[in-house]
Amino acid sequence: MKFHAKFLMISIAAGLMAYSWRDTFEAESLRGARVLVTGASTGIGEQLAYQYARFGAQIVITARRERVLREVAARCLKLGAQKVLYVAADMGLTSDPERVVKFAVDKLGGLDYLVLNHIGPSPFAMWDGDVEHTRWLMQVNFLSYMQMTSAALPSLEKSGGTIVVVSSLLGKMCTPFVGPYSATKFSVNGFFGVLQHELAMQRKNVSITISVLGLIDTQSALEKVKGYTNMTAHPAHEAALHIIKAGATHQAESFYPWYMYITCLFRDWFPFFRDLVIKNSYYYEP
Ligand SMILES: NC(=O)c1ccc[n+]([C@@H]2O[C@H](COP(=O)([O-])OP(=O)(O)OC[C@H]3O[C@@H](n4cnc5c(N)ncnc54)[C@H](OP(=O)(O)O)[C@@H]3O)[C@@H](O)[C@H]2O)c1
Ligand SMILES: *[C@@H]1O[C@H](CO)[C@@H](O)[C@H](O)[C@H]1NC(C)=O
Ligand SMILES: *[C@@H]1O[C@H](CO)[C@@H](O)[C@H](O)[C@H]1NC(C)=O
Repeated sequence: MKFHAKFLMISIAAGLMAYSWRDTFEAESLRGARVLVTGASTGIGEQLAYQYARFGAQIVITARRERVLREVAARCLKLGAQKVLYVAADMGLTSDPERVVKFAVDKLGGLDYLVLNHIGPSPFAMWDGDVEHTRWLMQVNFLSYMQMTSAALPSLEKSGGTIVVVSSLLGKMCTPFVGPYSATKFSVNGFFGVLQHELAMQRKNVSITISVLGLIDTQSALEKVKGYTNMTAHPAHEAALHIIKAGATHQAESFYPWYMYITCLFRDWFPFFRDLVIKNSYYYEP
């Protein structure tokens, strides 16, 4: 192929990407929106709550620690939320996911956004043969997402609502030290990817946004990777704004930082090179 023909093709590809990623977000669309955010006591979930608050949404936040939720709720009100309620719940218990959705739907009179963000703590270490931890983590990180979705779908169908799923590059790529966590995130990506197809095929007016994140500077993430890697962590408040915009503009899949998209794109092209890069990104002394 001649050089300028290649150049033209690359330009067209870049143009199409820029077009599909252009910012069509309208802040007004979130004023008064009824939002349920999970894992909102700290980290990205806390930032999601603050950003929705700035846009004037009506918010229900949940996590296990009630005292911390109360403080986050107070700050949300100061930032401009129309309404804020909190409910303490443990997603490791099989009855809590549904209870939380019922609470939100009752108190807000419906639901526009179900934002699934919580994760249970999991060690950053090589797998030690423990199966029970993964069984529990599957309930917290994955099965509770399914349960909440099941409970919220009727309300979301009524409102033409959106399910926002906070996921990770580690749900798309295999890297060391995160076996149980990665297993739950692959499940999340797999299940919600399938549900996207099925809702569209049934012409149900509910959209699903799956946000694929790289390393974010939350306290829990930084504590885990400290000493293992020098990868750059990106700011949680920016990640939160990215996720909210992706949900509000009905993107099926979104990536933050943006080059996570490139990483996923090239994942299977040069497996040998990829695995070399992964192994050299972590410090480990056997
Ligand atoms: N940080 C990163 O580098 C990164 C990268 C990619 C993707 N992500 C994704 O981003 C999301 C948020 O991550 P994060 O770093 O912000 O996490 P985080 O700081 O550890 O926060 C986790 C949240 O979940 C809650 N939680 C923990 N166990 C729970 C349980 N059993 N029941 C109910 N709530 C529970 C915690 O509150 P309580 O302790 O009060 O319950 C907290 O609000 C996750 O889905 C994660 O996979 C993060
Ligand atoms: C679907 O929901 C959106 C709100 O997200 C609404 O604007 C639109 O009118 C709905 N479409 C149908 C066909 O009900
Ligand atoms: C990170 O980078 C610094 C400076 O390049 C280096 O000294 C250190 O060994 C690296 N690894 C960790 C885990 O900090």
